[in-house]
Amino acid sequence: MKIGNIELGDKPLFLAPMEDITDPSFRAICKPFGVDMMYTEFISSEGLIRDAKKSRNKLLFEESERPIGIQIFGHQVDSMVEAAKVSAEAGPDLIDINFGCPVRKVTGKGAGAALLRDIPRMLEITQAVVKAVNIPVTIKTRLGWDVDNQPIVQLAEQLQDIGVQAISIHGRTRNQLYKGVSDWTLIGETKNNPRLKIPVIGNGDINSASVALAMINKYGVDGLMVGRGAIGNPWIFREIHHLISTGEELDPPSIEERVAVCRNHIQQSIRWKGEAVSLREMRKHFSNYFKGYKNIKPHRMRLVTAKSFEDIEQVFTDLLQEYSVE
Ligand SMILES: Cc1cc2nc3c(=O)[nH]c(=O)nc-3n(C[C@H](O)[C@H](O)[C@H](O)COP(=O)(O)O)c2cc1C
Repeated sequence: MKIGNIELGDKPLFLAPMEDITDPSFRAICKPFGVDMMYTEFISSEGLIRDAKKSRNKLLFEESERPIGIQIFGHQVDSMVEAAKVSAEAGPDLIDINFGCPVRKVTGKGAGAALLRDIPRMLEITQAVVKAVNIPVTIKTRLGWDVDNQPIVQLAEQLQDIGVQAISIHGRTRNQLYKGVSDWTLIGETKNNPRLKIPVIGNGDINSASVALAMINKYGVDGLMVGRGAIGNPWIFREIHHLISTGEELDPPSIEERVAVCRNHIQQSIRWKGEAVSLREMRKHFSNYFKGYKNIKPHRMRLVTAKSFEDIEQVFTDLLQEYSVE
């Protein structure tokens, strides 16, 4: 599969952009496990233009992360064009536009998934961004606004016709937020529309290699995007690639590997954000890294209340002692 000139191989795996999760440290952790393409967290176009520090910082990435897309969101054509230009100067491989974020803070301003209720403006923004930059522009969106408004099949064609080079679709409507289960039927219909030539990347609830394989077989999508299923579980990319290429499931990672990867994650995070911020943000990842072990709760509590990296190291020592299999 290709996006513009970016060669991504067969059935590539994408790490979904996730605010406060897919920062450079988590991207560095996931990449070696077989992520073929990833994105920054979404960046407010207005914030970028104002030169807000938070937005600026989100533009940062390392060369080893390529191919990488910078994701922007907003609702004003001019701001989105300006933000796309600023983003392109940071040197990503593509610009992705977020038309899927369901949270009120974003949709209330007419951005993210709100544009699913205003397709003319969505197309206007997209077309202007495509014209403004000379790297590929891709879109990440949902099926529609609500159950009665799911324009995705036709919308994908319209986006293709104005120069979008790939589309990632989360199989929920805006009103579903993250509730229930994602429905891939319309993702499959979009992919199988004979008029659609651009790659379709399926997204929603891929939390294991077997689910990933089932989605590929059933819906024929060109690539898969994994979000929450990768949190504290970066091995999922290795497991999916392995199942697709060999037909066999890999054993889950050992406690030694879990500790080593989690330690590396914290160290990378501290390098980017400092110890205090990093320990707080890592709380979202800790429980998943050590999920499923018997009597893990007290250890988890110690991880999420740790005051220093040394505290964490002590928990790691105890985890290894308790759960290592000789
Ligand atoms: C905490 C969190 C933050 C997210 N932030 C973004 C974001 O910045 N940009 C975006 O396009 N989607 C964002 N999403 C949506 C995910 O990219 C993805 O579409 C969604 O979680 C469904 O995929 P999953 O079931 O594999 O998690 C976020 C989701 C979560 C849970």
